[in-house]
Amino acid sequence: MKFEKNILCIGAGYVGGPTMAIIAYKCPQYKVTIVDINPTRIDAWNSDELPIYEPGLDEIIRATRGKNLFFTTDIQRSIRENDIIFVSVNTPTKTFGAGAGMAADLQYWEKTARQILQYSESSKIVIERSTLPVKTAQAMENILHNAHSSTFEVLSNPEFLAEGTAIKDLENPDRILIGSRETESGLKAREVLVEIYANWIPREKIITSNIWSSELSKITSNAFLAQRISSINAISALCEKTDADITEVARAVGMDRRIGDKYLNSSVGFGGSCFKKDILNLVYLCRQYGLNEVADYWEGVVKINQYQQERFTLNMLKAMFNTLADKKICLFGASFKANTSDTRESPALFITKKLIEEKAEVVITDPQALRNARVDLANIDGKISFIEDPYSAAAGCHAIAVITEWNMYKELDYQKIYDAMVKPAALFDGRNILDHVKCHKMGFNVYPIGKPSLTHF
Ligand code: UDX
Ligand code: UDX
Repeated sequence: MKFEKNILCIGAGYVGGPTMAIIAYKCPQYKVTIVDINPTRIDAWNSDELPIYEPGLDEIIRATRGKNLFFTTDIQRSIRENDIIFVSVNTPTKTFGAGAGMAADLQYWEKTARQILQYSESSKIVIERSTLPVKTAQAMENILHNAHSSTFEVLSNPEFLAEGTAIKDLENPDRILIGSRETESGLKAREVLVEIYANWIPREKIITSNIWSSELSKITSNAFLAQRISSINAISALCEKTDADITEVARAVGMDRRIGDKYLNSSVGFGGSCFKKDILNLVYLCRQYGLNEVADYWEGVVKINQYQQERFTLNMLKAMFNTLADKKICLFGASFKANTSDTRESPALFITKKLIEEKAEVVITDPQALRNARVDLANIDGKISFIEDPYSAAAGCHAIAVITEWNMYKELDYQKIYDAMVKPAALFDGRNILDHVKCHKMGFNVYPIGKPSLTHF
């Protein structure tokens, strides 16, 4: 069968995989290929056990794989055979040299640009899908402009999907943003991408801009979202001192339509691969331009997030008579949010390390993320165990700390859990998802976030 377009994505991760699966699903007339340097990942995409957990993804992959969606490690051939190339390789925070701990590590990005240059035998549209510092497209262009015969048009098309709701977000996004150079060829390339998305997204939701606005919009969106969480978390600390209740405050504030009620759930802190990385990137960028006040402003969002996680652990220590040594603490949740197996920057990892420093024994339970958590915590010297069943995990523990807002944790039989714990049994609700009064009546000492604690002493 001859396909209308041949589309490639380099990077089969949490972003590349679901995004391309949806394009293949919505556009059977296009052939979509995903290539990755990691053969284990590609084998997993080609198997019945996908490398990432995302609600609804299995069905989409089953409907498209082998028909118009293909996974491969053959980078040379993939680049040669496709003329529309999305780049979705990871751009982690740099851990070395200038900008360590702040700037984006662009080595994979640049390597990918050079591979595109090396293997291309015809002109291509290259689409930035990874979140990148503003002006990265320029570096890509500068590399690609060394080509002898082919021409390349670089577009920015940032991804706004959130993990756990990726399929829903991709099928029905708030907007699709496409940035391009505003030259004749840039605008033409932009139209090609608009046409792809227009297969299932109303035209009015597909917005276009210059390429730098597009790059900056992505980082700004994440910074704003993270800022809201840090704002409500900062107020949660004040609530704990003043007997105000953060849920009541958030409801009252969120009903102001100018503010809105989303992203106001106070928590143990935000995690995930994007928020912290993107804000640090923004901070670094501002400092490079000498905008130190702007940099300080945004850096505060990350600092409050760190503070919230530290505060949570210190509250545990204080509530448990200032010693955790040899106490067994069960963490409900390892993933950074519900409905994902992703543990990147998960507060669960930070809290586990802190509890181990206090010589506690940590039992971690999670319905999807234990495989990743085991790898993340492999080098920690301390007593950590991983148990999928929450009842067995909590049995014999002195405390439970809810870290991830998995729905299943709301529905457990807490009386049964309480009965099998060491007394006094503490319950730290890092997501405010449980019925605190009910749990208190059962006998738990309950410590929510941003609300008065309910204790028996
Ligand atoms: C990544 C970026 O981290 C994020 O900034 C961006 O917004 C979207 O892409 P994610 O998909 O979550 O996010 O990353 P990850 O799951 O780590 O996937 C990246 C994939 O790229 C990995 O499978 C990796 O093996 C692959 N890769 C990396 C390549 O194929 N080639 C490379 O040179 C480097
Ligand atoms: C985020 C952005 O939402 C998405 O648009 C972008 O493309 C990538 O980064 P993601 O990190 O997958 O997506 O998840 P998100 O739902 O935004 O949650 C991030 C973190 O904030 C999680 O740890 C979540 O638990 C936390 N959070 C979210 C809160 O603590 N309170 C809230 O009210 C909302």
